[in-house]
Amino acid sequence: MKFKRIGVLTSGGDAPGMNAAIRAVVRTAIGSGVEEVYGIYGGYKGLIDNDMELLDIRSVSNIISRGGTMLYSARCNEFKTEEGMQRAVQVCKDRGIDGIVAIGGDGTFRGATDLTNRGIPCIGIPATIDNDISSTDYTIGFETAMTTVADLIDKLRDTCESHARCSVVEVMGKYAGDIAINTGIATGAIAVAVREIPFDEEKAIAKIAKARENKKRNIIVIVAEGKTDYAEGFAERIEKATGIETRFTRFGHVQRGGIPTVRDRVTASRMGKAAVVELLNGKSNLVICERKGVITSMDINKALKIDRMFKNLMTDAEYAELEKEGVLEEMRAHCEARAAAKLELYKLSEEICK
Ligand code: F6P
Repeated sequence: MKFKRIGVLTSGGDAPGMNAAIRAVVRTAIGSGVEEVYGIYGGYKGLIDNDMELLDIRSVSNIISRGGTMLYSARCNEFKTEEGMQRAVQVCKDRGIDGIVAIGGDGTFRGATDLTNRGIPCIGIPATIDNDISSTDYTIGFETAMTTVADLIDKLRDTCESHARCSVVEVMGKYAGDIAINTGIATGAIAVAVREIPFDEEKAIAKIAKARENKKRNIIVIVAEGKTDYAEGFAERIEKATGIETRFTRFGHVQRGGIPTVRDRVTASRMGKAAVVELLNGKSNLVICERKGVITSMDINKALKIDRMFKNLMTDAEYAELEKEGVLEEMRAHCEARAAAKLELYKLSEEICK
C-alpha cells in the first residue's frame, strides 16, 4: 500500500523529547515520499474532533530543543467508547489518513491497537518520564526528568546543609520507581523508597540517625509517588524518631517540563524514524522499543501484556491464556531480567550510602 497521508499525535502525560519525535516522524515521512503529514492536536480527542493541521519541514523547525509537545496532549475517555473510536476512524477516512504514529505511554498504545483493529494502521512510540513501558529499556523523557530531579535535589541539599535538616522528596513514577532509584544514586540519597521493592523503614531511620551521629548535616530521602501516601508521613516519623528537623517536598509536574537532554532528542529521533519506516513497510500495531541500545519493535498486544505482567496486574485467566499460547516463559524471562536490573541498581543505591 502506498501511504499518501499519515497522522501523528501525542497523548497521555507529556514528556520532554516528544517534539523531537514529532520532528523525526514528519521529516522521515516527507523524505520517504509521503505527500502529507497531519499533526493531530490534543491526542485522540483531537482525532475525534477533527482538530488537525498539515505539518511540513518548516512547521517542525526549531522544535527539537523544546519541552512539552507542540501537538498538545490529553487523556481522552471518549476515545474508550465504541462511538468515539468509530468517529475517529471516520475522520481518518474523510481526511484520507492511511496510518498514524501515536507517541505516549501505555494508554496511547491501547488506543493505537483499537484504531489498528478498526482498519487504521498505527505504530506507537514510547514517551513518558516514568520509564514504565516494560517492553522497552528506555522511554523518551526519562533522562530529562531525572536531570531535573537531580538538579532540584542538589539545590535542596544546599539548604539542608545550612539548616542541618533532612529532606524527604517525592518524585514521579506511578508504577515504576526508576526516577527515584536512579536519582537516588546520582544525588547520594541516604534512602530510596519505591512501590515495587520492599522497604525497611526502621532500618532507614536507623541509618539516618547514625549519619547524624557521624556529623552529617544534609540528609536526602527519595520516595517514588507509586508508594502512595507515604512520603509525607515518613518525613514526620523521621523527625519524631531522630529529632532531626525534616521537611517534605513534592516536586510534582515540574519534572515533566524542560529542555530535553541529548539522550532524549537522539532516542526520539531514532524512534520517530523507525516508526515511519515500519508504517511504510506495511507494518502496524507495533510499539518501537530500545533494547540493549538497539531500536527494534514489538507487537503492541504483546507489549501491553508484558507491561501488565511486570506491574503484577495480570489475572490468573490471563496467565493461563499466555501458557496456552506458549509465550508465558519468554515473557516471564523478560520481566525477570528487567526486575533484576532494577534491583541491582536499587542495591547499589543502598550499598553506596551504607
Ligand atoms: O506521565 C507520567 C506521570 O507523570 C506520572 O508519573 C504521574 O503519576 C502522572 O503522569 C500524572 O498525571 P497528570 O498529568 O494527569 O497529573
